[in-house]
Amino acid sequence: MGFASAAMRQYPATRMRRMRHSENIRKLCCESNLSATDLIWPIFVIEGQSKSVPIESMPGVSRVSIDMLPAMAEQAERLGIPALALFPVIAQEAKTLEAQEAWRQKNLISRALLQLQEFSITSICDVALDPYTIHGHDGVIRGNQVDNSATLQALSKQAIALAEAGADILAPSDMMDGRIKHLRQCLDAQQHTEVALVSYAAKFASNFYSPFRDALNAPRSKKERSEKSNIPRDKRTYQIDYANAEEALWEIALDIQEGADMVIVKPAIPYLDIVRRAKEAFAVPILCYHVSGEYTAIASAAKAGYLDQKECLLEQLIGCKRAGASAVITYYAPRAAKWINETKTG
Ligand code: PBG
Repeated sequence: MGFASAAMRQYPATRMRRMRHSENIRKLCCESNLSATDLIWPIFVIEGQSKSVPIESMPGVSRVSIDMLPAMAEQAERLGIPALALFPVIAQEAKTLEAQEAWRQKNLISRALLQLQEFSITSICDVALDPYTIHGHDGVIRGNQVDNSATLQALSKQAIALAEAGADILAPSDMMDGRIKHLRQCLDAQQHTEVALVSYAAKFASNFYSPFRDALNAPRSKKERSEKSNIPRDKRTYQIDYANAEEALWEIALDIQEGADMVIVKPAIPYLDIVRRAKEAFAVPILCYHVSGEYTAIASAAKAGYLDQKECLLEQLIGCKRAGASAVITYYAPRAAKWINETKTG
């Protein structure tokens, strides 16, 4: 549409406010829609029974023992949330340099999946080694770097273990090269042809992940990680530089070619330009991950009374939809679903 064309009608013939006069006319002109079915709920799981351990840097979010999952799955289904994303919090003693716990039978995540077996809700599991490594990196270290091919070998063991434990969707979030192709081949070779691969294709080296690292008890800061290994302290050798958009689109194109069923842009709000451009360039569904730091920014400001939590969050979620996202992964999922459902019926 030629907004700049000289022939375009102008004031006073055009009065934009005519479309804003009443609630009803605003509804008729509304371009984006948000529903509980657009939400994915990430949950941190821990060992133990009837446990709920608050995450200090994420006010309102707790790590929960896996016996709580059935109640949460029921709640999600009741609210209309289609999927849960599970993140295991591994005891420090079980973390190693090579992350062997990631594919051990009956590990925490596979027992968590067992709890969801009776539910129709879709389960999503990350494929990445960071919950299981001492240094908190997403891969295996050789020499002084995260080694791509050694990591692919480890990731395929983790992916097969997750598929066998009943995960519906695997979400590789490690940013190694060639992982989607490698994992699709390994899964298909083991007859896991129906397990979907949702790729964290455009994952930026973001400062907004630190509360997530707190939740996992992983090294948080650059300083902390350097004490636990002698390798580059941050994840910039595999996650994307946040100044780059072309590179992110290239990553997405590669992952689609390699067999990704959907792609994730992560974090969400600073990267909506990528969502929009990917939406225009590709036919695959795009998900946004509204990450821990984005959660915390709203939750803590709301706690202090500075922001209206519900309104600010819904504005951000609609922003994701408007940019072209099919769904949003958000720690607010159950609360947001409630707010959305109340608005629709109320
Ligand atoms: C790592 C992973 C991270 C998140 C999800 N998977 C953090 C990281 O890259 O260090 C962060 C999500 C969030 O901040 O909510 N595989």
